[in-house]
Amino acid sequence: MGSIRVLGTGSHVPETVLTNFELEKTLDTTDEWIVQRTGIRERRIADTQEAASDLAKKAAIKALEAANMRAEDLDLIILATITPDTCCPAAANWLQAKLGAGNAVSFDITAACTGFIFALSVARQYLQNGQYKNALVVASEVLSRTLNWQDRASCILWGDAAGAAILDTSEQGAELLSVHIHSDGSAGRNLLLPSGGSSTTPITEASVREGRHYLAMIDANKTFKVAVKRFAESCEEAASYNGHRISDIDLIIPHQANLRIIRAFAERLKVPEEKIFINIHKYGNTSAATIPVALDEAVRSGRIKAGSKVILTAFGGGLTWGSSFIQWN
Ligand SMILES: CC(C)(COP(=O)(O)OP(=O)(O)OC[C@H]1O[C@@H](n2cnc3c(N)ncnc32)[C@H](O)[C@@H]1OP(=O)(O)O)[C@@H](O)C(=O)NCCC(=O)NCCS
Repeated sequence: MGSIRVLGTGSHVPETVLTNFELEKTLDTTDEWIVQRTGIRERRIADTQEAASDLAKKAAIKALEAANMRAEDLDLIILATITPDTCCPAAANWLQAKLGAGNAVSFDITAACTGFIFALSVARQYLQNGQYKNALVVASEVLSRTLNWQDRASCILWGDAAGAAILDTSEQGAELLSVHIHSDGSAGRNLLLPSGGSSTTPITEASVREGRHYLAMIDANKTFKVAVKRFAESCEEAASYNGHRISDIDLIIPHQANLRIIRAFAERLKVPEEKIFINIHKYGNTSAATIPVALDEAVRSGRIKAGSKVILTAFGGGLTWGSSFIQWN
């Protein structure tokens, strides 16, 4: 079995910026509350014409360029999303067609904010067993379509974005050394997108009246505490599996759910803030997309350099959590 490499990364955020100050005009909230409780200052909102596959396509094209590859070269496309263009077909199939990646098999993965880590894990298995030589792993979310813009406790948190990475089995490039993923279905109700699924009947007049088509958060404070614990555990799992201590790690790229969650787990691990990548102030929580967007920004800004030991760590609805260790070279 050869090494699994990260050949290139890419990301895309929609042009429209929605600031906290703009939210103040329609909601009983303030920029000060949102910044203090979450660290978010603004988020991006997709155009009404843009679906998850459209954002994903733009991120994927940049990743392909960085990897010096063409869409026709792709063997496998895995798209992580909880906001697919349609329930059927998969958003990955729309993406395959839009990219002209006709030689690739394509499918979606649903693991909420941990979706990119789950997708990395699945792609890595296919590459390790030799069935495919390369993969486009992409996460894309248009969460703005799922939000109740009257619900100040939830709608201020989320945004739209996409990020991508190309994996292959060559001898060059950053080495994807491990991926660990976990689930706890018993707490699945804590982050829920109910309508349209088979347990809730299709969307009806009544379900819309009751707001069942909106993303719902239950016990957000409890989720906050579980998140801190799981982020810390999964960082430790990634480091120890690869024979390292947390202090050996150059950069931790966490899922961007809340700046206070990030600070709390960093404190628990005794990691200084300069070793943590943070961009939540610009984009909010873009679910599965936060990690690949942050990874791409860290690569392109030079924050990740040759020799960097990088841990990606995520926690989200499902519940799901996990981590990945990448040795840059
Ligand atoms: C949602 C979250 C930001 C709320 O922050 P918090 O500090 O826990 O705030 P609370 O929910 O305790 O609310 C405190 C008060 O602010 C109010 N409030 C909530 N949203 C507000 C807003 N946008 N503006 C102003 N006040 C707001 C509440 O009504 C509450 O008022 P009360 O004390 O009079 O009842 C935080 O709990 C969180 O990030 N949780 C995890 C979210 C999650 O599940 N993310 C996805 C998975 S990682």
